[in-house]
Amino acid sequence: MNRIKLPVHVAFIMDGNGRWARRHFRPRSYGHRAGVQNMTKVCTHAFRLGVRIVTVYALSAENLSRPKEELDDLFELIRLYFGKKRDKLLEMQVKINVLGDISVLPPDVQADILSVAEETAGFTGGLFNICLNYGARQEIVRAVNAAVACGRFVDEESFKDLLSTAGVPDPDLIIRTGGEVRLSNFLLYQAAYSELYFSKRMWPEFSKRDLERAIENYSARDRRFGNIRRG
Ligand code: FPP
Repeated sequence: MNRIKLPVHVAFIMDGNGRWARRHFRPRSYGHRAGVQNMTKVCTHAFRLGVRIVTVYALSAENLSRPKEELDDLFELIRLYFGKKRDKLLEMQVKINVLGDISVLPPDVQADILSVAEETAGFTGGLFNICLNYGARQEIVRAVNAAVACGRFVDEESFKDLLSTAGVPDPDLIIRTGGEVRLSNFLLYQAAYSELYFSKRMWPEFSKRDLERAIENYSARDRRFGNIRRG
């Protein structure tokens, strides 16, 4: 990883937990558990490499239409992650921010999330955004309504301040695992000039080395933001 142009902000669409579990003849919940463990491993590695901001799509607004049994499993994982196992999160020494509408989560889980956010607010090792019940279209519509409610006109930059990522630079690199090639309602406004990287690996098997490969691939790209190459 020498002489690499590092992205400041990397975002992950962690897809493939269910298929990975099926390949191992295990229930989907097993895949999600492995997915959470891998999230900690890969994101910790990203911060170690020098990435300053990491955003993960942990639960989309659309995921909420999954069968109750699977949702209960996911909520339980979230409860553990922000509750009993919060030490793992705190070990990362980064500021934790949750994006999305968490009011659908059980009240005790909401309280745990808020207390982790509070406890890590002063951490300076980086910023870890965890998207829960997040949808980009919902976020954009909410922002438009907020602007209309205060009778404000917005421009491209001031509109960003109404999004849940206010004050956070746009993702430089978005990595999606699981073999699908789409954004699935993730950071649609913020992704306008993000570099996209798609991996066929299922999320639980996406390794630290895979992350390095994605960053090396990013580093070799010519980002022109609609302009022409100079020099
Ligand atoms: C996509 O795999 C993954 C999800 C819907 C949830 C991912 C969530 C986590 C890895 C962690 C949960 C977060 C916290 C903060 C505890 P899929 O189920 O769609 O897989 P498939 O496409 O193979 O079925």
